[in-house]
Amino acid sequence: MNNQEIIDQTIAHVKNQLANAEGGHDWWHIHRVWKTARHIAAAEKADELVVALGALLHDIADSKFHNGDETIGPRLAREWLQSLQVVEPVIQHVENIITHISFKGGNHQQPFKSKELDIVQDADRLDAIGAIGIARAFNYGGFKNRLLHDPAVSPNLNMSKEEYKHNNAPTIAHFYEKLLLLKDRMNTSTGKQMALQRHAFMESYLKQFYGEWEGEL
Ligand code: ADP
Ligand code: NI
Repeated sequence: MNNQEIIDQTIAHVKNQLANAEGGHDWWHIHRVWKTARHIAAAEKADELVVALGALLHDIADSKFHNGDETIGPRLAREWLQSLQVVEPVIQHVENIITHISFKGGNHQQPFKSKELDIVQDADRLDAIGAIGIARAFNYGGFKNRLLHDPAVSPNLNMSKEEYKHNNAPTIAHFYEKLLLLKDRMNTSTGKQMALQRHAFMESYLKQFYGEWEGEL
């Protein structure tokens, strides 16, 4: 099977796997991450097949929806790629990307670093900010039946993770907990550039939001 066939089969597989996914984590999230990853990769020296497969398979089994189990995604990706007889180094690399891509980046025993991980992680983070990121955040908040905003709770940059969870914090708080921090966590120079623009858009969005909230704009 050539690379294009591997990618085409993987697209069909991921679409099928994510058929009932929540709107922020559906096939179109994967599609955007894949496109953005290709865009970033065009300016970097990277293995295109690994970037494509890493992007396409990165959310195949999000731990949030599997009782926090972070091992299912990498394992399912491995089994899938083995069924296509993809060579072991590529499988290993894709598995590592999926294991290490999450924002928290905590509890992993071995550190893993690669240009391909940097690219896919940037693309995934970019999809959490800017116009799409705002849409995804409010969609997720709606899914969890959260308030849009509560002036007593947000904006608040000093809230601890525990307080945040405990409060079932409104969606605007998520901007301060995560979205506004992402621009400083980009890996590649193309990713940084794109993040700056999306960040500025979120700042202007928030300004408008608070103005409207007060009935002043
Ligand atoms: P990904 O799986 O794409 O790396 P996450 O699983 O952390 O990212 O989140 C998926 C989407 O849901 C992101 O756009 C993120 O901002 C949004 N999201 C996650 N947690 C919250 C929250 N508490 N409030 C609002 N949006 C959230
Ligand atoms: Ni993702």
